[in-house]
Amino acid sequence: MHANNSLRFRVQPGGSLLGRIRVAGDKSISHRSIMLGAIAEGVTRISGFLEGEDSLATLNAFRAMGVDIEGPDNGRVVVHGVGLHGLKAPAAALDLGNSGTSMRLLSGLLCGQDFDVELVGDASLMSRPMRRVTEPLAAMGAQIVTTEKGTAPLRIRGGQTLKGIDYVMPVASAQVKSCLLLAGLYAEGRTCVTEPAPTRDHTERMLSGMGYTVEVDQGRICLEGGGVLQACDIDVPGDISSAAFFLVGASIAPGSDLVIEHVGVNPTRTGVLDILRLMGANIEIFNRREVGGEPVADLRVRSARLRGIDIPVELVPLAIDEFPVLFVAAACAEGRTVLTGAEELRVKESDRIQVMADGLQALGIQARATPDGMIIDGGVADGGVVDSRGDHRIAMSFAMAAVRARSAIEIQDCANVNTSFPGFVELAAGAGLTIVAEVGE
Ligand code: S3P
Repeated sequence: MHANNSLRFRVQPGGSLLGRIRVAGDKSISHRSIMLGAIAEGVTRISGFLEGEDSLATLNAFRAMGVDIEGPDNGRVVVHGVGLHGLKAPAAALDLGNSGTSMRLLSGLLCGQDFDVELVGDASLMSRPMRRVTEPLAAMGAQIVTTEKGTAPLRIRGGQTLKGIDYVMPVASAQVKSCLLLAGLYAEGRTCVTEPAPTRDHTERMLSGMGYTVEVDQGRICLEGGGVLQACDIDVPGDISSAAFFLVGASIAPGSDLVIEHVGVNPTRTGVLDILRLMGANIEIFNRREVGGEPVADLRVRSARLRGIDIPVELVPLAIDEFPVLFVAAACAEGRTVLTGAEELRVKESDRIQVMADGLQALGIQARATPDGMIIDGGVADGGVVDSRGDHRIAMSFAMAAVRARSAIEIQDCANVNTSFPGFVELAAGAGLTIVAEVGE
């Protein structure tokens, strides 16, 4: 289906991860920097922008809607904001590739415009659930047509009058929360969203950073429509979700000692640190500072003997993107790890419960998929071939598993690593992983 599904990683066992590295910019913040910069008044200067396919899909969508955007050039992007009502109708459907964040956040931002727009994406994105956003948006007065299954293409009818709602989210989802807050900017009156558990709060922080009043009170987030966003400078920290591969790789590879610099450690994102520490990981957080309203730190990780745990369910939304690599940590740990309460993993870029269970089993690890999680008994992985099913995070997770395997691991369908972490192979190789990328049948 995708043009480049013949990209494979081949990773040899052994080696340690050593030195100092900086991972790619935060994907969530990169998306939002373009979206909010575009509808702000004035010029937003971004540094550390993630030049991955997902955030570039967002950037190109706003260019297609008439926003003048310079770059990206080495992580620098300059967005000339057009204000809340300055976007123009795009000439064609907006293709958002593999990016769920682009589609869900844009559906909220675009349903209050005075033009029609259609949102499409790749095969994975076109099969992901969109009713979680279209239903509450419809309650605000939006007109959005999906397929019968509730999937994209999303056909958004412009010129609607939106009204604020008070919405209690059935799932803990930062994408749904952010979608409704963005629609709320265009709505009459007050929009409130209540989340069942804390999720990443970059939208709230960045709106506030641009001078927009957002009230947050115990899981209920409210704003009034019709305000103004003031452009500002945005320094995007390293993505803790990308750092996670190296946190696990260095924990499981004997003799490792790795520093990951300038990582975003927003408390709504650090579940992976808590879970790894509960498993016995040796991770030091130092040089804590605040950069543009987001906490940032350097992380030092050294090899450690990991043990299996029951993952506390309240940490699940705070580590939602890190479970593929946490499953690899569990596969290398002593004893049993049990994850529950994570059914959301089944509707990510792939069904991450099934695809990870299949891959771990192919390597001889005892891993049992359950409806909402996984039960993994730690052991020694064999070498072999695993299929990432075009899921970036699964490809990178199995690359790290190879350091402790009996022989080489080949990972198929890896091109989508470029959606979130361009340069992964080079960075991992530089730190000590014996990894090559190969193109071929
Ligand atoms: C994201 C929210 C999460 C996460 C995704 C990025 C965001 O999705 O998995 O990678 O930037 O808001 P959900 O809101 O669906 O959990």
